[in-house]
Amino acid sequence: MFKSIAILLLLAGGSALAQATTTLPGNSALGKKLYQGRCAACHASQFGGDGSVIFVRKGRHVHSIKGLYRQVGSCNTQLTRMLSGSQQQDIVKYLDDRYYKF
Ligand code: HEC
Repeated sequence: MFKSIAILLLLAGGSALAQATTTLPGNSALGKKLYQGRCAACHASQFGGDGSVIFVRKGRHVHSIKGLYRQVGSCNTQLTRMLSGSQQQDIVKYLDDRYYKF
């Protein structure tokens, strides 16, 4: 009895997690284009390759979806990239789908 309740709870928790990643708003395909057009060159010049190592390196800075929003927002502000809120949302969606998977 307890075992089956535990399994049910696990299943419920698992699907809530799965939902959390799939229901993140934004358009990943647009985010990818925006990221590649406006952000990637600098990461590439500083970190080599296509720059994506920055998202998977040991000791990367972003550890949560909240942190990802903050980082994308602060890059955008500091570098005067002038991305709108929804464009930043798309980039967050793309980076999370592709690399962070929070
Ligand atoms: C002028 C260069 C430059 C541009 C342009 C730039 N970045 Fe960055 N970005 C960096 C550097 C350098 C770091 C690493 C900072 C560090 O390690 O302290 C970084 C870190 C990041 C990280 C955190 C990686 C981690 O450690 O988990 C994210 C996410 C990110 N940038 C997103 C973006 C996005 C989105 C854009 C475009 C809107 C962008 N960056 C534009 C230079 C840039």
